[in-house]
Amino acid sequence: MQRLAPALRQDNVPLDLISLIKTILAATKEISFRVGQGHLSEVMGSTLDENIQGEVQKQLDVVANQLLKDILLESGFVKAISSEEEDTSVAGNINGKYIVSFDPLDGSSNIEINSLIGTIFSIMEAPEGMDASDPDLFKQPGHKQVCAGYVLYGPSTTLAMTTGQGTHFYTLDKTHGSYMLTERNIQVPKETSEFAINMSNHRFWQAPMAAYIDDLLRGKEGPRGRNFNMRWNGAMVGDVHRILTRGGFFSYPVDNKDPAKPAKLRLMYEANPMSFLIEQAGGLSVTSQGRIMDIEPEDIHQRVEVILGSSDEVEQCLSYYSGN
Ligand code: AHG
Ligand code: MN
Ligand code: MN
Ligand code: MN
Repeated sequence: MQRLAPALRQDNVPLDLISLIKTILAATKEISFRVGQGHLSEVMGSTLDENIQGEVQKQLDVVANQLLKDILLESGFVKAISSEEEDTSVAGNINGKYIVSFDPLDGSSNIEINSLIGTIFSIMEAPEGMDASDPDLFKQPGHKQVCAGYVLYGPSTTLAMTTGQGTHFYTLDKTHGSYMLTERNIQVPKETSEFAINMSNHRFWQAPMAAYIDDLLRGKEGPRGRNFNMRWNGAMVGDVHRILTRGGFFSYPVDNKDPAKPAKLRLMYEANPMSFLIEQAGGLSVTSQGRIMDIEPEDIHQRVEVILGSSDEVEQCLSYYSGN
């Protein structure tokens, strides 16, 4: 089994990018340790504060955010960071080559039930000639990412990561604290009979998504001619990990539940990095309007519709929008 850094060197990943990745992963090892300690670590409850997303923050949201923020800003590798838990982007080293966006703790509502949670990150090169405090540094489409990944704090701590040369899985060896390459070139099967969507929002969806899901629910007797199974983790990291492992369809579609918030997932911290991982594994990741990684961002906290997974099923779903 290969350690992470030699595996990245073999893929000709630049040394400064490898150092930045190792910096991010150092924070995830500490988060993994604290998560594993559960209530012993005294970071399991809620704070009473709200983040910029209008969500009540959990202590672990805050702790994970602080760990990542501190280690990245101290490293000198980054010009700026942006996080789900920060109001604005935060300036780092003016000469830093990279910018990093992250969701420090994905699946916050799973913290207190000892269920799946993770950390998602996305790295781009910093445009030159811009101030380190300028949030426009982040207004680049997802296809500009040079690395994306997530760490899933499950029964084992697993890293899924891509630098544009396939998506690979690594497992944290807790005996010596190293991420080991455990599966190269993950491939999302084209076909699937499993879908993930929050069904309780059905009545708020647009007609094409409702019609597509209704046809899946009709199973063998419906137009699809086979039965479909459903899974929903309440944590995108868990759902995407299942899809990378055995295929599947995932969507958080636009809905009219709250007119001020037509989509839930965030472009920078969730949709773009997951899209890079899924596409590098042969899957598709889109909105009903087009490829997610081609979206020109307008705001660092922008939310976006997400439809991703096994290519046959994503295309099936899109055919309900185009009427084909
Ligand atoms: P976060 O915990 O970072 O705010 O993200 C939660 C997201 C995502 O991980 C998940 O797919 C979705 O919210 C769950 O939404 P529901 O509460 O509607 O199940
Ligand atoms: Mn949140
Ligand atoms: Mn999240
Ligand atoms: Mn989060």
